Order: sequence, then structure tokens, then C-alpha cells
Amino acid sequence: MTFKQKIGQLQQRIITKIDDDLKTEIKNGEVGSILVNLKVITNASIRNELQKIAVEDSKSGIPIIFGQDVIHGYKTMFPINLAQSCSWDTLAVKKAASIAAKEATTLGIDWTFAPMIDVSRDARWGRIAESYGEDTFLNSQFGVAAVKGFQGKDVSQPNKLVSCLKHYVGYGASIGGRDYQYTEISKRTLHETYLPPFKACVDAGALTVMSSFNDINGIPASANKETLKHILKNKWQFSGFVISDWDAVEQLIYHGYATDSTEAAYKAINAGIDIEMKSNTFKKLSEEKIDINILNDAVKRVLYVKLKKGLFKTPYVNENRSKKDVLTKEHKLFARKLASETMVLLENKNNILPIKNKPLTISVVGLFSKEQNLNGWWKSNSSPNDVINPYIGLLKNAPDNIQVLDKINNKTDIIIACVGEKHNTFGENHSRSNIELPNNQSKFISALKKHKKPIITVIFNGRPLNLTSEKESSDAILIAWHPGTETGNALADIIYGNVNPSAKLTTSFPAAIGHIPVFYNDRNSGRPKYDFYTKESCEPLYPFGYGLNYSTFEYQNIKISNKEISKNESITVSATITNTSNVNGTEIVQLYIQDVVGSTTRPVKELKGFKKLKLKAKESKTVKFTINTKDLLVLNQELNPVVESGQFNVWIAPNSNKGLKESFKIK
Ligand code: NOJ
Repeated sequence: MTFKQKIGQLQQRIITKIDDDLKTEIKNGEVGSILVNLKVITNASIRNELQKIAVEDSKSGIPIIFGQDVIHGYKTMFPINLAQSCSWDTLAVKKAASIAAKEATTLGIDWTFAPMIDVSRDARWGRIAESYGEDTFLNSQFGVAAVKGFQGKDVSQPNKLVSCLKHYVGYGASIGGRDYQYTEISKRTLHETYLPPFKACVDAGALTVMSSFNDINGIPASANKETLKHILKNKWQFSGFVISDWDAVEQLIYHGYATDSTEAAYKAINAGIDIEMKSNTFKKLSEEKIDINILNDAVKRVLYVKLKKGLFKTPYVNENRSKKDVLTKEHKLFARKLASETMVLLENKNNILPIKNKPLTISVVGLFSKEQNLNGWWKSNSSPNDVINPYIGLLKNAPDNIQVLDKINNKTDIIIACVGEKHNTFGENHSRSNIELPNNQSKFISALKKHKKPIITVIFNGRPLNLTSEKESSDAILIAWHPGTETGNALADIIYGNVNPSAKLTTSFPAAIGHIPVFYNDRNSGRPKYDFYTKESCEPLYPFGYGLNYSTFEYQNIKISNKEISKNESITVSATITNTSNVNGTEIVQLYIQDVVGSTTRPVKELKGFKKLKLKAKESKTVKFTINTKDLLVLNQELNPVVESGQFNVWIAPNSNKGLKESFKIK
């Protein structure tokens, strides 16, 4: 390959039109990959036509890899990723990713910029919606599930997508929740909190990684040798490629880390960026000055991923798949099921929900009652027209004895207030400086009280909100998030009791904006009874792991297999969970551990396991967790992973704030 052809492999084009210039560039081997603009590449034959130029008309004959943001669906939209994590169901998250891959590949997309596995602890940050919440362990679990769903066992299959882990790394720590901001991340926090999901997904076979926009302690992530070269490529032996985020190489200039685009290009590629997205600085690299080993390594990585995706063997895609593989009945059914499993019931006073078994009139009102834009911030190729809105869903699925109105009149028995955040008020570059419901919607709900009817508040949101006012004014609160195509149907399943809600929060809901960041696995201070000293408790209004059910569950009889073990032994802990209600239900049981005293301080508790337990009415089951040495690893003062002797507390719990406690010792 010539120097120019090699550089071409390291360049991702964002195209706004297909013209002769683009075709010439492809023919010259200058376009290694294309970010699919869905307004330009509208069908698979257009994609194939461009591919043909690369494969048949260019000298190197290297196929282009086509990428797109297929984040939580392509045409059939699933709930936003933060919602998906509230299902605590890795198999479901995997399946959603595999359906998205099946649909997106019909257009000839080869590669998705997902999963996003940024641990996110700031409700103001718009991108919290794209994450799997505040916990490192959960981001690892769901990240791995998504990678497996997108890539499958053999990513070269025509219905699979190459995945991309993003944003590497620490993007979620943006100061003040302001997007793209500086991040100050200690080595310990980097290794304990932000890196593990990436490591888990690299081990699971993810083929690409995207560097993030943020500056980490003075060195921008897109030119950070420590994180890209030393940790990702050397220590973890990652063999795929790293793509910069959009313009992130050029932006090294604005960070004050490069004087011009030439310096930016050298700093990025020398640190470990292989492909540059959007900006065009790699063109400034010169054959004389570049370290040829670095250049060749980057090119090899790109070719390796293309090879894995099967693009050399099968560069073209079948142009006739889209009709039968997109927005199918089966996909929509699964979207409905997943959406209902991600809606979190926060309040249910006097068991007002579910609504059934009596003749009733319900009024579905509020800004979101007929909202169609419920596909979240990343739309991919979906249309709001395919969304079943809340009112339509409740109307069409209503049992015979329930009348559904879209306004309040004197027949109304129950009010369903549909409120929330618009799809363009969260996501990238959409941070907020307050986390109450916008547009006076809290006042709207309070004003409904004058009707003296029970109020069920359904919230369509993309981030944790301060619901202090709603808690007071509502009889029930259901967090619906942005649920996607099947919104109204899934909502009806919950409201009418065809589905018993089981989702639990994977992000704490703060009681005040001033408490941010609030997350369950904080460390103790030297004065842990902080409310005595600060006069204000920073407890979240709804903690991590919390969510109600139409059933009630009792936790009893925690047992531990051993009170003392040595460092290489495992231990089991069990408890009996009883469904004390008359309704079948599913309980998400959580396992937390605390390393009480160590060579460094540890969080008050850390999630180490979870199980989704199906329990019939009045049924009891014993749930058992095995704790292995790897679950007890901590980073010592030198940041080496070790198991330390001493006392550990363990909880089997319904949420991070409760639970049955036991303890054991490591000799
Ligand atoms: C910028 C976003 O940060 C990233 O997540 C996305 O994949 C790229 N743009 C491409 O759209």
C-alpha cells in the first residue's frame, strides 16, 4: 500500500452528498470508512455502489467500512439505554442489540458506535440517558451483553454489526455535568470506576473503541498515551482499532494541546488513535516524519476489523432484505415487552395501580399524552410516526369496562398525567442546570389536585429528575423513560396490569440538585452521620436499585456458607424471598459487598451480583449467590488488584438502601 492509501484507511468521511469528488476520493483509496448519513445513503444499493468503487475501481481494492449510531434500535426503537439497564436483564439487552443489528445491516451498515459504557453519575449531564447508569459493575454487564448482541458469535454474518465501545474514557465525569468539559479523575477512580466496563467489553471481543472528547487531568483523551496505548493496546492487548470521536483530533487545538492540525494529527496517532472521525488532520502526516511502525500498526488494525467483519470476502450486502427484516411484528413485540420491563414504579399509594376490574373513566392528559417523539435522542432510522403514543396505547388496549378520555370531565375517576422531558432536552450537548420537570409541568400536576381524583403521573424522561413535588402531588409515579416504538402499548400493559412492573433504578434520583453527584457506592467520611454535621441529608429521593411491584416481597433468613475463608476460597450466601401478595411477580434481588477495613478505604457497599426471580403469588424461593475471590479484589495503594484479609459485610437486598446483612472474614 502506498503512504496515501494507508492514510486513507485512517480517515472516516462524513458525507453530505454523493458527488464526483467523493467518488474520486474513494477511487484514490482515500476513504477507509464512511459515517452513514441516512439522508444520503437511503438504501443498500447506494451503499453498494460506493463500495464497488472502493473494491473494484481503486488500486488497493480495500472495502470501506460503513458506520452509524445504532444506539437503541434502528427502525424498531427500544427504550433508551438508561431505561434498558433498569430491566436488570442482560439477555434482553443482548436481544435488543441483536435486533438492532439485524435491522441496520439491511441498509449495509457494518458497524455501530455503541455500546456507550460511560459510568454516569451526574443527572445534569444529557448523555446519562445513553449510559447504563451509575454503577461500574452494571455498565460492564450490560456493555458485554450489547457487544454480544451486536457482534454475535461471528460478526462476519450479514446480520451482525461491529461494536464500538465509547467514550474512552471518563467522559461521564465531565465537571458539573457540562458536556465535553474537563475531567479530573484520580488514577484510583480511573481504574476502579471508569476503566472496568471497557476492560470487560474488550475481553468479550469488542472490535473497536471510540476515544472521548474530554480532557483527562490535562491530557485530552484523544491524545492520551497512557489510556490508549499503555492501558488499552499494551496492557489489555486490544487488537481492534480506536476511532476518535467527531472532530476530536482537530479539537486538540482548542484544548490547547496542539498548535495546529499537523501537531494534532501527530499527537493523536502517536498516542494510539487509528482512525480520525470527521476532521481531516491525518492528511497532514508526512511519510518522512511519521514513525512507520505506528502508521502500519494503525492500518493493520483497520484491516483486521474489516477482515473480521468479512468485508474482503463479502463487500456487498443483499439489497432486498429491508422489507422483511425491519419493523417486523416480532421485533415490535419484543420492543413492547422490553419497554414494559424498563418502566420503574416509584409510588403506588393505596395500590391505585393497576387499573382494572371496575367500570371506570380515565383521563389521559398532559404535555406528553399524545407525544410521538419518544424514541430518545438517538433516532437512527426510526420515525416518530411509528410510535404508539401514550393516549392511543391506553385507548386501544383498554379493557371493556374502562373508558379512556383525552380530557378531564365530570365523569373522570382517575387522571393519568403524562409529563416529561422532550427528546431533544437530553442526549449529547443537552445538559440541564436544573433537574425538575421542565415547562411548569410540576405545577400542572399539582393543579390537577383540584379535581379530587387520584393522579397517576407517568414521566417520559432521559435523566434522573428531582421528583419532590410529584411525590407529594401524585398517587402513583411511573418512570417510563423514552420507551421507543411501542410506548403506548407497553404503558397500557403496566397500567392495566397485564404486566406486573419489575424494573428497578440503575441511577439514584436526587432530592435536590445540590446533592449531585449522588450515587450509592460513595465512601464514608470520617463523620458518616453527615446529616448531624451538615444539617441536610443527601440521601436520594429514590435510591439505586429501587422500584416497586404490584406484588410485595419479603426477604428472610440470610445464610452464609462460611464465616471465615482463606483468600482462594469461595463462599455462598443465600436468602429466602417470599411473594407475600396475591399477584405473580418478578423481583430483582441484589447482592452488595463491603470491604470494611483495608489498605485503602472502600465504598460503603458495591453491587456484585443480581438475580431476577420469578415468584408466583405466595411462593417462596431461596436465592443463592456465590462470591469468588475475583469479586473481592480491590486495588491496593500501588493500584494492584489484591484480596485483603479482614472483615466483609454482605447484603442480599431489594435495593441499595435496604437488605439482610451478614458478614464474613478472610484469613
Ligand atoms: C459524537 C458523539 O459523541 C458520539 O457518541 C457519536 O458516536 C459520534 N458523534 C458520531 O455520531
